[in-house]
Amino acid sequence: MTKNILLLPGDGIGQEVVRETVKIINWFNENKGLDFTTETGLIGGCAYDETGSPLPDTTIAQAKKADAILLGAVGGPKWDDIDFAVKPERGLLGIRSELGLFANLRPAIAFDALVDASSLKEELIKGLDIMIVRELTGGIYFGQPRGIEEKDGVRTGYNTLVYTDAEVQRIARIAFDLAGKRGGRVCSVDKANVLESTLMWREEVIKVGAEYPNIELSHMYVDNAAMQLVRSPKQFDVIVTTNMFGDILSDCAAMLTGSLGMLPSASLGAKGADGKMPALYEPVHGSAPDIAGQNIANPIATILSFGMMLRYSFGLLEEADMLETAIQKVLASGLRTGDIAKAGETPISTTEMGDAIIRELG
Ligand code: IPM
Ligand code: MG
Repeated sequence: MTKNILLLPGDGIGQEVVRETVKIINWFNENKGLDFTTETGLIGGCAYDETGSPLPDTTIAQAKKADAILLGAVGGPKWDDIDFAVKPERGLLGIRSELGLFANLRPAIAFDALVDASSLKEELIKGLDIMIVRELTGGIYFGQPRGIEEKDGVRTGYNTLVYTDAEVQRIARIAFDLAGKRGGRVCSVDKANVLESTLMWREEVIKVGAEYPNIELSHMYVDNAAMQLVRSPKQFDVIVTTNMFGDILSDCAAMLTGSLGMLPSASLGAKGADGKMPALYEPVHGSAPDIAGQNIANPIATILSFGMMLRYSFGLLEEADMLETAIQKVLASGLRTGDIAKAGETPISTTEMGDAIIRELG
C-alpha cells in the first residue's frame, strides 16, 4: 500500500537531517518492498521568506492529505525581529493546532554507547527510558484571552491556562495505554497546590486511571518533578503533563540523556472518520543555526523520528526495530557526529552518518 509522507524540512539543520532521512526512506522502499512516496512543503522561516506566512495554506492542505509528516526544525536568529504572529514558531504551533495533534510523545532514552555524555553520573543514567506525554494543543499555549495591552500607562501581558475535562481525559488515556505497553506506571505532573486548572487536571486523570486498574498512577508537582528528574530519573516510566510543563520537562529529560541530537518525537491526533490518524514526527532538537549548512549535524534524531512513524502511523514494528538496531550498531562501532564525539575522536559528517546507518541496515 502506498503511503504518502509530507516532508517539512524547515530551517537551519532541518534541511540536512531530513535529507539523510529521505535516504533511509528510499532504502526501505528498495529493500523491504515498502511503497512510501514523499512530497516536500514549506514551514517556518523559509515559508515566511517565500510566502509571508510561516504556515501557508498550501502546507496545511498538503498536511491534511498526507499519511504522515516528517518535520526538521523551525526558527533562527534571522527571524528574531519579525512580527510575533508570523514568527517561524507560529508555523509549528499552527500545524499542531490545525491537525489537532494533541498528544506529544517524547521519549528520553539513554543510549548505552553514550551514557558518559550525560552531565549526570553513569549509574543514574544507564538504562534510562522515560516517555514524556505532553498535551500539545491546549493549556496556556492556546488559551484565550491572551495578549499585551496598555491602559492608563500600565502595560499588561497575559495568557490563560485552561483545560476542559475532555482534553485531560484523552491525553490521560494515551499515557495509560502507553504505560500498559511499557513499565505500567504513569506519573501525572501538575501544580494542583496553586493552579485550579491543574487541580482539575489531577482529578480527571484520577477518573481515567480508575479504568486502568493495572497501571500504577502517581502525582507530582512540577517543581518537584524537575528536581526528581535530575536527582533520580529512572524512577519514572511514563510522565503525563500539560503543554507548558511538558515543554520544560522534556528539554530537561532530553539533556540528561546526553543525547539531545538523538531524541525523536511524535505528535499524534485523533483518528478521523476515514480511520486516518494525523501524525507529525520531528526531532526534539531545534534548528541549530550556528551549525546549519556545514554537514555536521546529527541526523539520528530525525531518522529515529521516522522510526516512530513506522511504528505509530504504519504499524511496521519489525522495520522500526530494525532501524533502531542499525543505529545502535553504528554507535557501538564508535562512529560519532560532532555533538556526541569525545575529545580526541574525529567526528563524521551528517551524510557519513546517514550512509553508515544504511550500511548497517544492509
Ligand atoms: C518544542 C518547542 C516549541 C514549543 C516551540 C518552538 C514553539 O520548544 O517543540 O518543544 O514550545 O512547543
Ligand atoms: Mg521546547
